[in-house]
Amino acid sequence: MQKIIGESSSLSTALDHVSLIAPVSRPVLICGERGSGKELIAERIHYLSSRWDQDFHKVNCAAISESLLESDLFGHEAGAFTGAQKTHIGRFERADGGTLFLDELGTMPMRIQEKLLRLIEYGEFERLGGQRTIKVDIRILAATNANLPKLAEEGEFRHDLLDRLAFDVIQVPPLRERGEDIPTLVDFFATRMVIELGWDYYSGFSHRAMDRFIHYHWPGNIRELKNAVERSICRWQDKDSPVDQVVLNPFATQSESATDLSLTQTASDHQESELQQSFPIKNFKQQIHKLEISLLQNALQQNQFRQNDTAKALALSYHQLRGLLKKHKNVLQLTHEKNVQKRFDEQNKE
Ligand SMILES: Nc1ncnc2c1ncn2[C@@H]1O[C@H](COP(=O)(O)OP(=O)(O)OP(=O)(O)O)[C@@H](O)[C@H]1O
Ligand SMILES: [Mg+2]
Repeated sequence: MQKIIGESSSLSTALDHVSLIAPVSRPVLICGERGSGKELIAERIHYLSSRWDQDFHKVNCAAISESLLESDLFGHEAGAFTGAQKTHIGRFERADGGTLFLDELGTMPMRIQEKLLRLIEYGEFERLGGQRTIKVDIRILAATNANLPKLAEEGEFRHDLLDRLAFDVIQVPPLRERGEDIPTLVDFFATRMVIELGWDYYSGFSHRAMDRFIHYHWPGNIRELKNAVERSICRWQDKDSPVDQVVLNPFATQSESATDLSLTQTASDHQESELQQSFPIKNFKQQIHKLEISLLQNALQQNQFRQNDTAKALALSYHQLRGLLKKHKNVLQLTHEKNVQKRFDEQNKE
């Protein structure tokens, strides 16, 4: 079982929930943003359950076509369809006694949802093209980053299946809500990378690089952090000095990454110095105005000037952000590269 790193209160709450629910042999739905660790949570539920010594099967519902998914899950008899030369034993049969993890459940086609409902309810199904009803004992775990209740409201997901699957729901917190876990995660991924590169030591990350990791909003969560840590070490190559450049965007050129880091640093330094005012304060409104600009500037840079992402990072609606950008357009540095400026201009076309 892979270790789940982190001691933040939001992760600990989710893990306590996992420990409670793991021994109860009922379906569990695991919800969370992409890359937040849903699969790790599913594995943990399996290994903490009485089925730990049985198989843990994973199926990604989004990775294959509807007909392949159906035959992968239910199996088929020889001659069930053109090309079905031999009998195929599906996952439901192979996972008998164990756990089946259905990843990206929100993409499961309606027809398969209906058959899955019967399996969860009665433990029964037939192979494609088969007459014989097969009975199995499987624990179903499912993961999604979609809003399933909303999909069900819109008629895209079966309500009755959602009710059965959501015997209990584990919410995996996004990385930006557990910032205190970032330094430990950075060290963990960095150490693994250093070992993989065959280095006998490395000098860690500089303070400003660690700051960058801590203040970024991580839309791709832990997978994105892991990649950024590994990429930054690979590109740095100097074991003797602390890694000082965080490469968040692998498409950016070296100079863009460097500019990105120094601009962010300037913005956060600025923000800090603004906050270290002595009291009594004389120009409250002006200070707030400056802080607003500083926060906007910082968020824009960290999100490569993408307005949707910037709005999310600031917990604003898109329209609120647009309003603020208009208000401060004369002072905000809206770009550090021409191509980004172009993107900004395009987004702002009325
Ligand atoms: N708490 C953690 N400690 C260590 N590694 C983690 C942690 N959470 C996630 N990871 C690692 O991050 C990566 C993404 O995790 P995982 O595949 O479980 O996410 P996911 O939510 O299933 O993603 P997706 O929605 O893209 O399927 C994996 O390499 C996993 O090992
Ligand atoms: Mg996954």
